[in-house]
Parts: sequence; C-alpha cells; structure tokens
Amino acid sequence: MAGGSGTRLHPLTKSVNKHLLPIFDKPLIYYPLTTLILAGIQEFALVTSPIEVDNFRKLLGDGSQFGIEIRYVEQSKPAGIAQGLTLTKDFISGEKVGFILGDNLFHGIGLGRQLAEHQNVTGAHIFAYQVRNPESYGVVELGTSGEIIDLHEKPKSPPSDLAVTGLYFYDEEVSDLAASLIPSARGELEITDLNRMYLKKASLEMTVLSKGTAWLDTGTFEGLHDASSYIRIVEERQNSKIGDPFEAAQNQGWI
Ligand code: DAU
Repeated sequence: MAGGSGTRLHPLTKSVNKHLLPIFDKPLIYYPLTTLILAGIQEFALVTSPIEVDNFRKLLGDGSQFGIEIRYVEQSKPAGIAQGLTLTKDFISGEKVGFILGDNLFHGIGLGRQLAEHQNVTGAHIFAYQVRNPESYGVVELGTSGEIIDLHEKPKSPPSDLAVTGLYFYDEEVSDLAASLIPSARGELEITDLNRMYLKKASLEMTVLSKGTAWLDTGTFEGLHDASSYIRIVEERQNSKIGDPFEAAQNQGWI
C-alpha cells in the first residue's frame, strides 16, 4: 500500500509521495518491497493514488529488473488500508496474499525465512512488536493465557504494549471479507476491523517479532530521520545493504 494522504509529513509530502522519500540511500518503498521479496513473493500489486502512479512506474517499472512482476492499482482516494484488498481482488484472484504497508521498515536476521513460512497461511497471520507508544498503532489485547482476545485501532488506553505491524498474510477469503467492511468513525476501511473478522472466526494467528528484529516507524519527521540514521549506521558498519531489492532478488536466484 503506497497511497494515503501523508498529511502528517507536510510539507515534505505535498508534492512527493511519502513512499518515494529517501531513507538514507534508497526510496522508502524499496524496504517493504524487499521484505516481501525475502518472503519469497514474486507477484506484486502496488496500490497508490492516480496522480502518483507514474512516479512509481518510473522507479520500479514492471519489476523485471528484480525478477518479479509488478502491476499498478489506483486508489482514487485514501479510503482506508483495507480497501487495498478489494481493489486488488482480480490480482489476488482467490489466492493467498502477503500484504504490506509501504511505510513499514523491517530488518532482522532470518526474517525472510521466518516470513516465508506464512505463505501457506490459513486464516490470517499478523506480526506484533513491543513498543513504547502503542496508542499510535493497532494494539493487541491478550487473555490470561496469552491468546488474542481483541484488537484496537489507536486506543487511548492501550491494553498492552504490543503494536500490530503493517505486515499481514491472508488466505483466499480476504477480498470477500474486506468487501463486507463498513467505514469506521474516521471514514476509513480499517485493517484492524478486517483482522477482527478473522479473530471472530478463530482464524487469526500472531507472531511477536523478537527484540533482534527492528521495526521502524517512518510516519513522523523524527521517525524518518531515525530510520535513515539506522540504515546508514548498519550499512556502513557492515559494508552491506539493507532493503535492497536487487540484492534480495539475487539471493533468491531470480536475477
Ligand atoms: O504501521 C502500522 C500501523 O499502520 C498499524 O498498527 C495500524 O493498525 C494501521 O491502521 C496503520 O496505521 P497508520 O496510522 O500508520 O496508517 P496510515 O494511515 O499512516 O497508513 C499506513 C500506510 O498505508 C501508508 O503507507 C499509506 C498507506 N495507505 C493508507 C490509507 C489510509 C494507503 O495506501 N491507502 C489508504 O487509504
């Protein structure tokens, strides 16, 4: 998902889509794209607004340089993250799907291998991460034996410090379920409501990402700056790249 209004980052995002902004030496969109490549996904639909779509085409083309296929799907207005799953119904065509928010940056050793295990998901699989400020995210509510009992979107009093990250695996039913969502009080089709539907059917699973994995927020000026610093420090120290779709595709043997 690479649409949205990006108002929190004005004026940076007044003329440039947030996902095209640099995170040190690469555009932000490279990072989530690489995460899904590492998970073994080769067919992509990138959802963005009609006025931005050509900029993404210029950057990513048809994906063949990475050994993948990218098609572009337009979202006429930012009506919510879950709308991405109805707009791409034809692309998904009753298969299982990995879904990632274009502003989510993950880094961790063995993460790709861990994610690849969920390609064959039944129901839905979400990934949670312990954070200092859960009220800024979707939050998991746990029962006494650690089971998920509910999910809350940006709760004022978070029931736990486990944020739901913007990476999801869904089964064949996802587009139909997303089509039955109704807009929330803020007028959006909420990904949290979709995940709650899976929870109600007892088919929602969760992995809590370990401390060894970094999940960085790029939704604020501070977050953008910190993400750039993190990438710069790790890349320079290790003399290797993070979030490089060329390198990830090479490791997969696709190019
Ligand atoms: O980052 C994880 C969080 O992402 C989750 O914990 C929340 O449950 C989820 O609602 C979402 O919260 P955000 O407040 O970060 O969502 P935001 O509106 O900033 O949009 C996230 C990404 O999705 C961003 O890359 C833009 C894209 N987007 C968003 C909307 C609303 C679209 O492509 N289309 C849209 O209509």
